[in-house]
Amino acid sequence: MKKIGIGLLGLGTVGLGTYKVLKSQESEMMNKLGVELEIRKILVRTIEKAVPKVEDPSVLTNNWEEVINDDSIDIIIELMGGLEPARTYIVEALKAGKHVVTANKDLVAVDGEELLNVAAEHHCDFLFEAAVAGGIPILRPLKQCLAGNHLTEVMGIVNGTTNFILTKMSQDGMEFADALALATELGYAEADPTADIEGLDAGRKVAIMSSIAFNSRVVFDDVYKEGITKITATDIKYAKEMGKTIKLLGVGRLEEDGIEAYVCPMLIPEEHPLATVNDSYNAVFVHGDAVEDAMFFGRGAGELPTASAVVGDVFDIARDVQYNCCGRIGCTCYKTLPIKAMEDTRNRFFLRMKVEDKCGVFSSIANAFAENGVSLAQIIQRQSVDGIAEVVVITSSVKEGDFKKALGTLKAQETTKEISTMLRVYSK
Ligand code: NAP
Ligand code: HSE
Repeated sequence: MKKIGIGLLGLGTVGLGTYKVLKSQESEMMNKLGVELEIRKILVRTIEKAVPKVEDPSVLTNNWEEVINDDSIDIIIELMGGLEPARTYIVEALKAGKHVVTANKDLVAVDGEELLNVAAEHHCDFLFEAAVAGGIPILRPLKQCLAGNHLTEVMGIVNGTTNFILTKMSQDGMEFADALALATELGYAEADPTADIEGLDAGRKVAIMSSIAFNSRVVFDDVYKEGITKITATDIKYAKEMGKTIKLLGVGRLEEDGIEAYVCPMLIPEEHPLATVNDSYNAVFVHGDAVEDAMFFGRGAGELPTASAVVGDVFDIARDVQYNCCGRIGCTCYKTLPIKAMEDTRNRFFLRMKVEDKCGVFSSIANAFAENGVSLAQIIQRQSVDGIAEVVVITSSVKEGDFKKALGTLKAQETTKEISTMLRVYSK
């Protein structure tokens, strides 16, 4: 009976989760895979800290080369995170002929192409299902189950922390700072929440999903990123009044003139399936010419949900190893499509502003939009207080560059006292 050896790099949240899930599957492996998987080495920084976490502390090491150069190890699972030394360890592992599984979105969103190329050169599998939307299977469906489609959209809620914050703001009327404090207290937000609240984490996931969906490389720097720090409870209240909810959406869209890739808070119609995805849940919505619409929903992060995706990749590799068909599904980016500038994308816009409440102001607002070819779809005007009125509009679909020109005209008008919020509105 052949055993497949595993080396684990990192024993933090997902590393320990992966260890637990592999242990919990031990009695099923022969039936599921026809082979047993055995964790032979675990790289940690501090051995003493890791000893209570594992059954057999003799597998622990703080020397990475001991793991990579171990001839009894076939699969390396990288769960340390960050760019370096993770990148070096992965490259060296692939060069040593070991298959690699990682959840490292930071790395794949930047260096995915190079890592896939090194894997191909050495006939190795390099899989990273857990890097996007944690426990939700999305990369394998995009690469395999939906391969018979021309995919034109892959978008959704791909960050649990910000979805939790926006849900609290929407359901309990909390302001951003209070909802963030609660997310931190409950362990959703990290000590430094920047990557989540500024849209960077979601941006990495958009880069990876779009590259696979559109068969053309999109990297982290290609993705426009805007976070949720400026959203207020007032914006959410107006959005509700207009039949919409605000979500941080990661959007990858294939248009005739190129790929649109962005992350930003967007108003989404209350009847859209993504509008009901709340708390820390994630969901990804896909559109293809054959399948039409498909949605994937579940836990986008956390110890065991993320480990579930990692172990799924490991099992796939175990099957490939047995049938000697590793490296079957490598890089699928066989096109080089342009990435569109944000100014050239089309969306509807939500604008909240404060204006002087005097005769003719409304027509000057309407003119500012009309002069730039922007038509208005919804308008709310509140009773003025001390001569200042709050006006909220939603435009029809317009090129972002044209909307910004209208915004410039509005800002220049003497009667405009404040442009409070500008958000995009998702529409298909
Ligand atoms: P984590 O809890 O911080 O765990 C990382 C572990 O790796 C820590 O135990 C750390 O040791 C260890 N480590 C870091 N550098 C090391 C080195 N050079 N040598 C030895 N050990 C090292 O992070 P995590 O949340 O598990 O995330 C791991 C990866 O999964 C990241 O790429 C992350 O983006 C990805 N991911 C996480 C989630 C999630 O829900 N957490 C979801 C999807 C994807 P110390 O404790 O000593 O620093
Ligand atoms: N910080 C991420 C989130 C999980 O809040 O969804 C890791 O991808």
